[in-house]
Amino acid sequence: MYIDSHAHIQDSKFKNDLADILKRAKEADVEKIICVGYDYNSSYEAVNLAKKYEEVYAVIGIHPHDAKSYTEEIAAKLFDLAKEPKVVAIGEMGLDFYRDLSPRDVQADVFRAQIKLAQELYKPIVIHDRDAHNEVLKIVKEEKAGKNEGVMHCYSGHVPLAIEFMKLGFYISIAGPITYKNARKTQEVAAKIPLDKMLIETDCPYLTPEPYRGKRNEPSYVVEVAKKIGELRGKTADEIGYMTSLNTKKLFRITN
Ligand code: NI
Repeated sequence: MYIDSHAHIQDSKFKNDLADILKRAKEADVEKIICVGYDYNSSYEAVNLAKKYEEVYAVIGIHPHDAKSYTEEIAAKLFDLAKEPKVVAIGEMGLDFYRDLSPRDVQADVFRAQIKLAQELYKPIVIHDRDAHNEVLKIVKEEKAGKNEGVMHCYSGHVPLAIEFMKLGFYISIAGPITYKNARKTQEVAAKIPLDKMLIETDCPYLTPEPYRGKRNEPSYVVEVAKKIGELRGKTADEIGYMTSLNTKKLFRITN
């Protein structure tokens, strides 16, 4: 069994065939899908999908790309939405200094505000960190962001930084790029970090793993991520799937 710990199945790219996608996930033994919001509307949609489908859970929050859309009103709406029973975490939040779609100081302010929001709700957080490792680490430490645990989603840093984040209460999530030829750094992370701190994800519709690269990504492909980690660690894909599923349930307090 597998859990896709980070998917954007509310994306418009899935609107015509979501039922088929969920069926393929089931056939591939992907028993749960964590649907992650990136702005208010996609968060609201994530909650709707969680209500509609038993295997779907929701994470709600504002992506650093959309940090400039964060207002007091949005914060209040997120706070209310977080009370829905299948909202398991707040995110994805963080810093993206690669695309810089919101000003960096705004990204940092909104990251801190959402950490505080999650703490008020006693919920774990989902962090997006692209080309901003040191700044994310600094904010995580200052805000004690790992108090209710969290995950570094689509982790792209090196091993020592991963260890630092694990010490601060974070799991490390491995996504499709691990299957790419040039992914030596991430492969080293996947080979070396403790299995009880690891999650797997697709981040679909983006970051499609091999051998499907070039196509739209979907939750059933999370098995390819598990397969690659298994190769690196001398384990089967099923063993990786089983361990990472337990970790995902523990992090997100999913009891069934
Ligand atoms: Ni994402």
